[in-house]
Amino acid sequence: MPNNNSAGERDRARPPRHIAIILDGNGRWAKKRGLPRTAGHAVGAETFRKIATYCKNIGVEYLTVYAFSTENWRRPEAEVSTIMKLLGKYLHEAIDTMERDHIRMKVFGDVEGLSPELRALVDKTDEISRRYEGFQANICLNYGGRDEILHAARRYAADYAAGKAEGELTEEGFSQYLYSAGIPDPDLLIRPGGEVRISNFLLWQCAYAEFYFTDVLWPDFTPEELDRAIAVFQSRDRRYGGVKNP
Ligand code: IPE
Ligand code: IPE
Ligand code: MG
Repeated sequence: MPNNNSAGERDRARPPRHIAIILDGNGRWAKKRGLPRTAGHAVGAETFRKIATYCKNIGVEYLTVYAFSTENWRRPEAEVSTIMKLLGKYLHEAIDTMERDHIRMKVFGDVEGLSPELRALVDKTDEISRRYEGFQANICLNYGGRDEILHAARRYAADYAAGKAEGELTEEGFSQYLYSAGIPDPDLLIRPGGEVRISNFLLWQCAYAEFYFTDVLWPDFTPEELDRAIAVFQSRDRRYGGVKNP
């Protein structure tokens, strides 16, 4: 909860606990250079690696990124299959990094819709994550905010029917059925790439997130850009519906 005392002021100087980013602008970045859109996705994956390391180093606890939405299947088949290959390569390499740097990494999304190869990599990252504590990266893959809420509702209903869930459903209780169970809501949501919309990302969890939009395309995103977003975040008043100086 927000407060106006010195602890509140100290909070301001800290980085957000949880940052969420919509990784957007890869295609336009490539097009501007006369490259195929998929070249932008490859560079975007490298940018993610850099920004995740930076977040860990400055003390951010959770970084959640939107990498492939439930709507992105509408893209040309060739682009989708290249993105899936890149994600496989990325997860494969990330497994080594996780072991080396003791990083937790989770995939949020409908994994049933992914290939068996990708699902096996997701299982592996889950298994490694259980062994470590500290920084956690969440990759949203075949993820949609509405889809997540629907999945959660179905799972709750099944538990209730089986006598495994309480009848009195609370916000906190419902959150435990989301992919983000046990993780605090994002404090700061960043969207690079110039679009000013949420595109079905973390609809439940972003109820009180601070939003930061920038025209910088994701492959051009830098730690300095993240610092700018954090500085803006720290200058905001988070009132959660209350008043600051009653
Ligand atoms: C984001 O970049 C990556 C995915 C959605 C997979 P885009 O591919 O959306 O890039 P733009 O928005 O077309 O430039
Ligand atoms: C949002 O970007 C999804 C991801 C970054 C994974 P899109 O490029 O798909 O979003 P729209 O189409 O501009 O809303
Ligand atoms: Mg886009």
